[in-house]
Amino acid sequence: MNTIIEPFRIKVVEPIRMTTPQEREQLLRDAGFNVFLLKADDVLIDLLTDSGTGAMSSEQWAGIMRGDESYAGARSFYHFQDRVRSLTGFDHVLPTHQGRASERILFELVGGKGKVVPNNAHFDTTRANVEHSGAEAVDLPIPEARDPRNRHPFKGNMNVGDLERLIQRVGADRIPLVMVTVTNNSGGGQPVSLANLREVRAVCEKYKLPFFLDACRFAENAFFIKRREPGQQDRSVPQIVRDMFALADGATISAKKDGLVNIGGLLLLRDEALFQQACSLLILTEGFVTYGGLAGRDLEAMAQGFEEVVHEDYLTYRIRSVEYLGEKLVAMGVPIIEPPGGHAVYMDAAALCPQIPPHEFPGQAVVCALYRMGGIRAVEIGSVMFGAHDKPGEPPPKRLELVRLAIPRRVYTQSHIDYVVEAIAALHSSRRELRGLRIIQEPPMLRHFTARFEEV
Ligand code: F0G
Repeated sequence: MNTIIEPFRIKVVEPIRMTTPQEREQLLRDAGFNVFLLKADDVLIDLLTDSGTGAMSSEQWAGIMRGDESYAGARSFYHFQDRVRSLTGFDHVLPTHQGRASERILFELVGGKGKVVPNNAHFDTTRANVEHSGAEAVDLPIPEARDPRNRHPFKGNMNVGDLERLIQRVGADRIPLVMVTVTNNSGGGQPVSLANLREVRAVCEKYKLPFFLDACRFAENAFFIKRREPGQQDRSVPQIVRDMFALADGATISAKKDGLVNIGGLLLLRDEALFQQACSLLILTEGFVTYGGLAGRDLEAMAQGFEEVVHEDYLTYRIRSVEYLGEKLVAMGVPIIEPPGGHAVYMDAAALCPQIPPHEFPGQAVVCALYRMGGIRAVEIGSVMFGAHDKPGEPPPKRLELVRLAIPRRVYTQSHIDYVVEAIAALHSSRRELRGLRIIQEPPMLRHFTARFEEV
C-alpha cells in the first residue's frame, strides 16, 4: 500500500464553524487586520501554531484520570521522570509549565550582561529570555538557510566555522553555553543532522563550553535524520533521539510540540551544581520540583505523549502530511521555503506579492487574504514580527517575509489540508490584487500580537 493514512481513528470530535465571506470581512476589520485579535471560534482551520494545539490520545486522556495530585513526590512525577530518562538519557529532569519557563530559569542562571549566546537560530522567546538577562543572542545558520529555494537536507544546521570565529572574537569566557534548536523553527522548521550536532559538540569540547539543545521538536528532527542522513536508515527513532541528547549537557523543551500535550515543558541538566540552582528558581516561581507549575495529570499526559511521539507510523504520517501540503503548493507555483519543514510550511510572501514593499508587510497581507478566502489563520514571520526597530524612510534590513502554516498534531485530516490548498490556489490567482497594510496602533514590545492595521 502506498497511501499514508492518519494512524488513528477519531473518538471525539469538535465542530468547527464556517463563516461567510461577508462575515469574515467584518471580523477581519474589527480585529484591525491582525488575526491574533480574532476569536478562535471565527476561524475554520487554525494554522497559527503547532504549539499546544495537538489532539491527545485515549491513553493520554486515561492518564489524565490517573494523575496523582500530591504536592510532593507524586506517582505521576516518577512516571514522567522514568519516561524522560529512558527517552533522553538525562538524570536530572525538571518539569516546567512550558518551554519559555525553562528558558527563563536557564538564562537567569547562566546569562547576564556581557554574555553571548550562539544558536543556529533562536526562537523568539529564547532570544527574548537571553536578552532579558542582559546577554546577546547570536544566530549562526548555514548560508543555504538564507535561500528559500535551496533544498539542503539539513538546512537547520549550525555554521560551525562561524561558531568558532565567534568564540575566538568574543572569548570563550563570555559564552555561557552554545545552543542548537531542533528542528529550527525560525529558519523554516528545518532539521539539524547528527553530524552537525557532533561537530558543534567537538567545538564546545575544544573551548570547554556546555552544549544545550532547544529540543521542542526532537522527534521530528530524529525522523528527518533517519530519512536523510547517510547510515541512519536502519536505526530506530528512539536510538537516534538518544544519540542527539547524548551529545548535550542540557536541554530546554516545550512539551506543547513533540510532547503531544496542550501544556508542559522540561529543563534537562547534567551539571549537579546548575541543577541545584535551577531547583531553587523552579520552586521560587513555578512550583515544587515534582510538579513544576503543572498538575499531576499533566505529567501523566506528557509521559504518554513522549512515548507515542517516537512511533514511526505516527512520524511517517506527521512528516508526510506537512510535506503533502508543501508539494501541492510548489506544484501550483506558490513560493515556499523548500524543502517543507517538519511542523509547518512557510510561504515566501515577498516572492508571492512583489508589488508590496517590506514596509507595507507582504506577509500580513497574505495572512489577511488567507482568512478572507477560507477562514484559515496563519502567522506572519517577517517585518511585522521583527521590524519594530526599522527606521522610517530607510531601506529595511534584508529579511525573509514569511507566512507560516503550522500544522497541529493529529488534529486535521487530509481533506482539511486539501481545503487549505484550494484556498491558497484562489489566493495565488488573485495575488496581484493584494494590498499592503500600515500600522495604526502598536505596543512597545512584541507588536505582532496586538498591533492594529489598515489597508494601504
Ligand atoms: N523554542 C522553540 C523552537 C519554539 O518553537 C517555542 C515555541 C519555544 C521554544 C517556546 O515554547 O511556547 O512552550 O514557551 N513555539 C511556538 C510556535 C509558540 O508557535 O512556534 P513555549
